[in-house]
Amino acid sequence: MGSLEGKHIVLGITGGIAAYKSAVLLRLLIKRGAEVQVVMTPSAKEFITPVTLSALSGKPVVSEFFTANTGEWHSHVDLGLWADLMIVAPATASTLGKMANGIADNMLVTTYLSAKEHVMVAPAMDLDMYASPSTRRNLATLAADGVEIIEAAEGELASHLVGKGRMAEPEEIVERAERFFSRRQDMVGMKVAITVGPTYEKIDPVRFIGNYSSGKMGFALAEECVSRGAEVIAVTGPVAAYPSDSRINIVKVESALEMNEEALKAFRTADIGIFAAAVADYRPETYSDHKIKREGKDEMIIRLVKNPDISSNVSEEKKEGSILVGFALETDDALDNAHKKLEKKNLDMIVLNSLEDKGAGFRTDTNKVTVIARDGFKKAFPLKYKREVAADIVDIILEQQKKIKIK
Ligand code: C5P
Repeated sequence: MGSLEGKHIVLGITGGIAAYKSAVLLRLLIKRGAEVQVVMTPSAKEFITPVTLSALSGKPVVSEFFTANTGEWHSHVDLGLWADLMIVAPATASTLGKMANGIADNMLVTTYLSAKEHVMVAPAMDLDMYASPSTRRNLATLAADGVEIIEAAEGELASHLVGKGRMAEPEEIVERAERFFSRRQDMVGMKVAITVGPTYEKIDPVRFIGNYSSGKMGFALAEECVSRGAEVIAVTGPVAAYPSDSRINIVKVESALEMNEEALKAFRTADIGIFAAAVADYRPETYSDHKIKREGKDEMIIRLVKNPDISSNVSEEKKEGSILVGFALETDDALDNAHKKLEKKNLDMIVLNSLEDKGAGFRTDTNKVTVIARDGFKKAFPLKYKREVAADIVDIILEQQKKIKIK
């Protein structure tokens, strides 16, 4: 049986030179047993004919909202519901922009908006277009919406320029589809608790001590776990944006003390605990219940006292067989410190991100991490979107969990 046997896949093709590779992609998907419906944008037909694609897929290609001579209506809603997976390859800058902004002026984008399951895009365009702020912004928006981005590769482009912008090879795209189906529900029955975002430590009714954490990495982990079937509870400090997936249980807190209390409750029954919050190490010793005035003061001293270490507290009450994962943001001696932290906090894994890497860490949509575990495991990943980083981290957590169970 093929690895994609019985899977319904919508293959969206847009108007770029790389569209010729879509025929190979289609063939590979069919060979592995998938049932594929091709949806093309009008301009894609300038690059590859619907005849080739319908012959390979065994189905008429859909491109318009209705067939002109018969008036037959093609329902994007039905197609969106039918698909277990939608792959847009190649995805041009224009289609990415339309998808990111809901500009539903063709059958492909309307199908995307109706798609209930997973969507992947494999961009292909000239290097400058690929690097442009607009394309980056649209890709970041799509990634935040849960779309899986199959980044373009480096190489010679249709313009004969050399750079990043070549569509990923069909074999790689098929592999991503296989990976999606195989790991889709590998966390059913598991409970995951995650601390997310910053904490705010009150000084007076209008001021606080806080940090730049956006909660994006923690929420990416929450979304990844929920989509793989886990029950997820996120104890979350003050953030600007929450995930749209209503299956994630969110407990809102403000200070480290509140987070500590809620985390102790949430993590008690968890099989997997992840500490992705940037907890303030100290809080003001006293809180003034009216706004502190500056008149008559040349300096101001706020005495700080230590906050509890939530990860250490939780690990003391750790459920038998559970796995605890911390984050570490270091500026120097990163690995050495991370190893010490594993021991000191009694954690099973640490995800290390360095502030020195551009695009990694606070407030960004991307991250570059190295994951280490107690048994000496170490793996460094390249810069990726946070949702992809989350998938990598979860894969390692599940491997480590298996090892603990075997012991
Ligand atoms: O010691 P450091 O703050 O670098 O450790 C970072 C890890 O510990 C993160 O996983 C963070 O969420 C967690 N932590 C915590 N409570 C604190 C401080 C850090 O849970 N008070």
